[in-house]
Amino acid sequence: MIAPSILNAPSLTLGQSLSEMKAAGIKRIHVDIMDGHFVPNLSFGPELVANMVKQFDFEIEIHLMSTALESMVPAFLDAGADLVLIHYEAGSESEVKKAIKACHDAGKKAGLVLNPATPISVVDDFPALDQVLLMSVVPGFGGQAFIEATLDKIASLHSKYPDLPIEVDGGVKDNNIRACFDHGASIAVVGSFLFKDELAKQVKKLEQQLA
Ligand code: DX5
Ligand code: ZN
Repeated sequence: MIAPSILNAPSLTLGQSLSEMKAAGIKRIHVDIMDGHFVPNLSFGPELVANMVKQFDFEIEIHLMSTALESMVPAFLDAGADLVLIHYEAGSESEVKKAIKACHDAGKKAGLVLNPATPISVVDDFPALDQVLLMSVVPGFGGQAFIEATLDKIASLHSKYPDLPIEVDGGVKDNNIRACFDHGASIAVVGSFLFKDELAKQVKKLEQQLA
């Protein structure tokens, strides 16, 4: 599955981009939430998510780049998120577990995000995950280069947990998406690549790699 990140979508015509994604068969949207503190960049709030839920029927995953788990997780769940991805680095183990539980208590899904420098062994301490997101760039900005070492992390995690959905985020494009899936990822976040040309064309280029 391809999950477009809207971080680098043209912001004043986001609705148009979302309609094009719908027409291109996209099922899930990746919403990067940056609070200017956990990462040095600022992006969207819950209102955008609520408006997306009102106008479109995408599955919405929140990539929460914030340490304010106690306030942010419920805010995005209330806004209509289906899945919240919480950084391992965002708090203590018990704080992160509490945030995951809050998602499950609300009947929603929860996933754990690992920065490039975080080893996959940390996943062992989180038994109730619906998904793991492996960062293939240092989070904060779109348009960065894919860190090749992520492929080995995907493969190791997949061999340890064959049934756990693995998503990869950062620098994914037509020349590396196939390798991500071949190593065991099942979801790829794609941001800036999608907006380099006509969206339908870009989606097709990615799908051709996976055919
Ligand atoms: C980076 C974000 C990514 C990013 C993806 O911090 O988590 O989701 O927007 O964009 P590209 O595909 O351009 O790396
Ligand atoms: Zn992201």
